[in-house]
Amino acid sequence: MSSGYANVENGAPYRENSSSYWLEQQEKKGRKSKYIVIGSLVALVVLIAAGIAIGVTVSKNHHNSSSSSAIASSSNSTGKTGAVNETNPNDPSSFVKNDALKHSFYGLAYTPEGSQLPACGNSLAAVIEDIQLMSQLTSRIRLYGADCNQSALVLEAIKQTKVNMGVYLGIYNVPTDAGAAYVRQRDTIVDALKTYGTDHVLGITVGNEFMLNYVTNYAGGADVNSAAGNVGAQLLITNITDAKSTFGGLGLSTTPTIGTADAGSYFNTQVLEQVDYGMSNVHPWFANVSIDQAAGWTAEFFQQTNVDVANNLTNKPKMFIAETGWPTKSSDAGNANNGPSLASVDNLQKFMDTFVCQANQNGTGYFYFEYFDETWKDAQFGGVEGWWGLFNADKTLKNVTIPDCHID
Ligand SMILES: *[C@@H]1O[C@H](CO)[C@@H](O)[C@H](O)[C@H]1NC(C)=O
Ligand SMILES: *[C@@H]1O[C@H](CO)[C@@H](O)[C@H](O)[C@H]1NC(C)=O
Ligand SMILES: *[C@@H]1O[C@H](CO)[C@@H](O)[C@H](O)[C@H]1NC(C)=O
Ligand SMILES: *[C@@H]1O[C@H](CO)[C@@H](O)[C@H](O)[C@H]1NC(C)=O
Ligand SMILES: *[C@@H]1O[C@H](CO)[C@@H](O)[C@H](O)[C@H]1NC(C)=O
Ligand SMILES: *[C@@H]1O[C@H](CO)[C@@H](O)[C@H](O)[C@H]1NC(C)=O
Ligand SMILES: *[C@@H]1O[C@H](CO)[C@@H](O)[C@H](O)[C@H]1NC(C)=O
Ligand SMILES: *[C@@H]1O[C@H](CO)[C@@H](O)[C@H](O)[C@H]1NC(C)=O
Repeated sequence: MSSGYANVENGAPYRENSSSYWLEQQEKKGRKSKYIVIGSLVALVVLIAAGIAIGVTVSKNHHNSSSSSAIASSSNSTGKTGAVNETNPNDPSSFVKNDALKHSFYGLAYTPEGSQLPACGNSLAAVIEDIQLMSQLTSRIRLYGADCNQSALVLEAIKQTKVNMGVYLGIYNVPTDAGAAYVRQRDTIVDALKTYGTDHVLGITVGNEFMLNYVTNYAGGADVNSAAGNVGAQLLITNITDAKSTFGGLGLSTTPTIGTADAGSYFNTQVLEQVDYGMSNVHPWFANVSIDQAAGWTAEFFQQTNVDVANNLTNKPKMFIAETGWPTKSSDAGNANNGPSLASVDNLQKFMDTFVCQANQNGTGYFYFEYFDETWKDAQFGGVEGWWGLFNADKTLKNVTIPDCHID
């Protein structure tokens, strides 16, 4: 199953090629086409940033960080780090709030640690701790896939913590396995919904950068809305159609909405016509946008490339920013500076200060990328990939001040 991923997981060629291509084009072209090319660059590289690889085995022992002093505590066999205290240790809902955390985010992007096949290794205790922390920042989270029982773990953790939290569950499917990953994850979500119902389920996202993957790796880089792109779209639509009938046929109290997530400029129109919502990765960092322009660029790119396009369709799918954020460091010096601005905690602060409350005010639905640093990504990809968290991997808050503008 991982064979089709060979090119996708090795980000280097795309990063190099698309960057120099972009540079060349930028010199030649005006503002409008610049955005199109930036979009491709964003999309191509974000694939690596966002990738929850199927079949990736990463052990904590491979973790190669110099800054996470407390990482060892995450190997606590209970799965907890001690980042959250409870007044009653037997009652996860009795957790003590942290004054530094403000309920200011529309949503957060989240993958429980240890949720990649075949190793898995997540735990309910760890997910409870994550939900305790995230519920102090937001009422919405999104998952990328459903392997390793993560849907049930999250819904159980919400139940035990009794917090106000909705979750977009996810299915990470691929075009090359005759639907095996799709069916496997669909069926674990069916089980989770039968157990937990839909009270805390906001939707089910079918596909994570499926179209980017398809056109890049199986259609020779064709435009996502070309005839070749539409062939890939039909594969994705097969699973979207199945998701609608499967989840719609369970007799649940409410029928979950069905959407898809892709890189900013990789939404296929035929796919958008079949979904209730689309989630778009929009990353100023990978577009080499300076930190000073990052929030405005993100808003403008999303509006022009995704919202305006979706509003033109008869079904008008609701569009969200699936991921946006800023990395705080790179594991190698060469990637610490993507274009004009550094990966740094100061710049994470600047991005939050210019994006979060402004996007709330604008009514933009976004999932801040991301809740915590993911050690498996650092081990797998290096560079900035593992360093996008608001929290360190040990669940201590980075040295930032969370913006204070309440959003329900
Ligand atoms: C594991 O976590 C629990 C809960 O936070 C804590 O009480 C315990 O001391 C930790 N154990 C180790 C070995 O760190
Ligand atoms: C949890 O409680 C212990 C003991 O009072 C304290 O040392 C620790 O700092 C607390 N941790 C947090 C995250 O509040
Ligand atoms: C999945 O997680 C739920 C909640 O913790 C648990 O009840 C269930 O047994 C788990 N299922 C599997 C297959 O591990
Ligand atoms: C899911 O999509 C794949 C193509 O990517 C297709 O082969 C498979 O039949 C689909 N399965 C279902 C149940 O929709
Ligand atoms: C919306 O549709 C109109 C009419 O077909 C077209 O002129 C316009 O360019 C479209 N806008 C976008 C953002 O797709
Ligand atoms: C983006 O930044 C990288 C790293 O600093 C650099 O190699 C690349 O040329 C830049 N691309 C553009 C288009 O500025
Ligand atoms: C919010 O809307 C204003 C006005 O349209 C725009 O200039 C700004 O870039 C938007 N910011 C965000 C973060 O959405
Ligand atoms: C935290 O950030 C503040 C403000 O940027 C800075 O003054 C301080 O030195 C930082 N503290 C640490 C421990 O890095």
